[in-house]
Amino acid sequence: MQSLRIGDMNIKLPIIQGGMGVAVSLSGLASAVANEGGVGVISAAAIGMNEPDYMKNFPEANKRALRKQIRLARGLTDGYLGVNIMMALTDHEALIKVALEEKIDLIIMGAGLPLNIPALIAGSGIDGSHTKLAVKVSSAKAARLIFQYWANKHNCIPDAVVVEGPLAGGHLGFRKDELEKEPVPLEMLIRETVSIIKP
Ligand SMILES: Cc1cc2nc3c(=O)[nH]c(=O)nc-3n(C[C@H](O)[C@H](O)[C@H](O)COP(=O)(O)O)c2cc1C
Repeated sequence: MQSLRIGDMNIKLPIIQGGMGVAVSLSGLASAVANEGGVGVISAAAIGMNEPDYMKNFPEANKRALRKQIRLARGLTDGYLGVNIMMALTDHEALIKVALEEKIDLIIMGAGLPLNIPALIAGSGIDGSHTKLAVKVSSAKAARLIFQYWANKHNCIPDAVVVEGPLAGGHLGFRKDELEKEPVPLEMLIRETVSIIKP
């Protein structure tokens, strides 16, 4: 398999492990994937659920647990590490800031449109220049919206796009009735998305 490039990232094993929330993909899985040459991904969704104060103060628990897991993973690998942050999380902005502060290699954003994240990063006072930004979409239309919005409002575009088809697990950009009929082939979604973003 050919290596995968995302900016200056040269990913020898072209596999980005899917982030799995509720403390499923943490430092252990992410560092193991990174040690094999892929990108290991820690999911930020409910990552603080094992912290003692999660029920009382989940935003602080999530921030602390994310920082802890990134640092643990860094201690276990020199490979590439990413964080998956769903836009549907009420504390997604705070979690993005933690990932940037920890100089994560890649942030993958899905479950919602990350339209104003470049402005959040620019205004955060954190040097986010090391971190690549990937967006997760289920249609070329969503990719076009994000690319046009970022280009027009923020003068930038995402570093990478993850295309997720109707057979994937997790929070998808499909309605229930779309999932019940003949699934759109992922290959078609990829072709359409590439043709939209190429220009
Ligand atoms: C238990 C579980 C938790 C998941 N949590 C997240 C998540 O936090 N964020 C996210 O973007 N995707 C999440 N997903 C989706 C996966 O990252 C992945 O995109 C999806 O499973 C499709 O990959 P696959 O076809 O290899 O299963 C989750 C999936 C599973 C099975």
